[in-house]
Amino acid sequence: MKRIRLGVNIDHVATVRNARGESYPSPLRAAILAEKNGADSVTIHLREDRRHINEFDLKKIIKKLMIPLNLEIAATKEMLKIASRSKPPFICIVPEKRKEITTEGGLNLNHNKNFLRELIKKLKKNKSRISLFIEPSLNDLETAKKLNADCVEIHTGKLCNLINKKKNYKNELKRIKKAVQKGNNLGLEVHAGHGLTYTSARILSKIKGIQEFNIGHFLVGESIFEGMPLTIRKFKRILKS
Ligand code: PXP
Repeated sequence: MKRIRLGVNIDHVATVRNARGESYPSPLRAAILAEKNGADSVTIHLREDRRHINEFDLKKIIKKLMIPLNLEIAATKEMLKIASRSKPPFICIVPEKRKEITTEGGLNLNHNKNFLRELIKKLKKNKSRISLFIEPSLNDLETAKKLNADCVEIHTGKLCNLINKKKNYKNELKRIKKAVQKGNNLGLEVHAGHGLTYTSARILSKIKGIQEFNIGHFLVGESIFEGMPLTIRKFKRILKS
């Protein structure tokens, strides 16, 4: 029986809080609730513009959480400083554009190669597990290995869009399958994330070799209707079957 780990991304609990400038709903409370209900890790993305999670959330969550915290950061000097101070067990390096609604694509590994190599080296000194958020590209997988990343997270946004729009997703699924195999052959741990719903998580979980899913927007949205404990349990069932 396969068992894929579930990382619960709680950024959008902070989005709701920030919409009113109040102190609730509390991302820390969401992180602890996720932990109690079977999440294997909790993910937060500290954006340059702090549109959801902020440093205060990071400090509180890292102090209280027993399961690993996965901190998503852009490849910048500011984020290197923050991550070096907080030393989260997991770090995922993501691309970031100020005006995007969400992380729109994977990292451009060629553009950032030297800075990324140094960043990974420095972050690994704190024993953080380093993942790179990439497109399902065989070249990027080879580059990720050369950069000494521990893991890659494959951007599943395009696949999820096609599934949501009931379009033909077979080619994109094949592309992801090949990327997962390549990652496994290179000795990288392979994760998947972005845009996942019950349907897309079920389809992707059939691919052998993905060790972790990171899910946020849909999970937080479903939690409004069904509650977070039940929503997490549903995802866990999908990732086990
Ligand atoms: N993984 C990474 C690297 C991300 O940047 C995001 C979105 O911020 C997610 C997973 C979660 O995506 P979603 O919120 O669409 O589930």
